[in-house]
Amino acid sequence: MHIDLGGRKALVTGGASGIGEVTARLLAGLGAQVALADLDAGRLPDAVARTGALGGVEGDVADAAAVERMVAEADALLGGVDLLFNSAGIGDDLVPVHEQDPERWQRVVDVNLKGTYLMCRTTGRLMLKQRRGAIVNVSSIVGLDAFPGRSAYGVAKAGINHLTKTLACEWGAAGIRVNAIAPAYTRTPMVQSLLDRKVFNPGLIERRTPLGRFALPEEMARAAAFLLSDWASYITGVVLPVDGGWSAYGAAGDVVKIRHEPEAE
Ligand SMILES: NC(=O)c1ccc[n+]([C@@H]2O[C@H](COP(=O)([O-])OP(=O)(O)OC[C@H]3O[C@@H](n4cnc5c(N)ncnc54)[C@H](O)[C@@H]3O)[C@@H](O)[C@H]2O)c1
Repeated sequence: MHIDLGGRKALVTGGASGIGEVTARLLAGLGAQVALADLDAGRLPDAVARTGALGGVEGDVADAAAVERMVAEADALLGGVDLLFNSAGIGDDLVPVHEQDPERWQRVVDVNLKGTYLMCRTTGRLMLKQRRGAIVNVSSIVGLDAFPGRSAYGVAKAGINHLTKTLACEWGAAGIRVNAIAPAYTRTPMVQSLLDRKVFNPGLIERRTPLGRFALPEEMARAAAFLLSDWASYITGVVLPVDGGWSAYGAAGDVVKIRHEPEAE
């Protein structure tokens, strides 16, 4: 027995890079017919080839008209949409609220939260007609607790958590499940650029993570594939941390130390 997505039709936003791309490849490998949606038209053709998707649709998930068009194009390409993975997202500038540019704040909220809302809304209408479907949204550990300097992204991801629960309650009776994953630091182009620019310190992140390492995008993809599959048939409205224990840890930091080795004299 293994997860079988044969006959399912999956739309993956942010599918031209990172967690979206790797998840699209896994969904295709498990038998689904996949369409990618992404703002980056230049990367889409190669991502389609790498993932085994049937095709890609280009557009901005924060733009309601573009979302209507992208979902219609994916619907025509796949002959329906049963599964939606909302991975399109952007990070913020890591500055405190009083130094933030409100327009940049709005854009981060729009791409992450409004984009997820619009994609759920438009795809959900198709799913409601067929009375079947599963959606996985991409939140973050930053949506579970406060991270200084990340108010736009944190607000957006916390909003995604609430939206996920609301939709699960609104659409459950129609047979549509809505869940989210909340990744911690995952080795994708988005995080790599922050590491390259020394915005993130990898040693500090590894020390704060109980499993002691960054995640791989494949580890997000497996959690998403499970939640999208019938193996999760009684799971809805859940925000699943896929975080190496990050959110289990009470942020004791250096206050509490457990010694695994006797300290050197
Ligand atoms: N990498 C991490 O550590 C991490 C941790 C927690 C959550 N996440 C979330 O995972 C998701 C994927 O992140 P990633 O690390 O794979 O990033 P990534 O930059 O590698 O991929 C994101 C993709 O989304 C696309 N995109 C951006 N804005 C868009 C828009 N307006 N419309 C359509 N497509 C758009 C980009 O072109 C890109 O292909 C994001 O929602 C991110 O917030 C990532």
